Amino acid sequence: MFMEWSPEFETGVPEMDKQHRRLLDMANSFHTALKEGEKEKAREILIDFTKALFNHLRDEERFMEKIGYPELENHVKLHRSLAGMIKEVRDEFERNDHRAFTRSLSLIMSWLLTHIKKSDRKYGIFMREQALS
Ligand SMILES: [Fe+2]
Ligand SMILES: [Fe+2]
Repeated sequence: MFMEWSPEFETGVPEMDKQHRRLLDMANSFHTALKEGEKEKAREILIDFTKALFNHLRDEERFMEKIGYPELENHVKLHRSLAGMIKEVRDEFERNDHRAFTRSLSLIMSWLLTHIKKSDRKYGIFMREQALS
């Protein structure tokens, strides 16, 4: 499943947008590798994706803390459930449980994109409001 970047994913925070785009690109490269039967390459991308995702969640939490974002606590909870999901996906990949794995990965990506649209964009709005007041 190839996913395209869309303006509705923009938070307006350049560093976070950059990281989100990179995650999306990596997920797309992963799908391409799988489709072409390059399992080893797919495995490497998946490992990199997991690292990039964890780094992103950490950077984003630091950013929200820095701007004094009031919904930080709840947002961190959402991140923790995502972190749990990606671990499951990696296990399924290693077990060669192909169907479960593809399903979970699609689920994660749609979860991530919805999260960006619904939750991440809110800290961008908060930041802009703060700048105005
Ligand atoms: Fe994010
Ligand atoms: Fe987030």
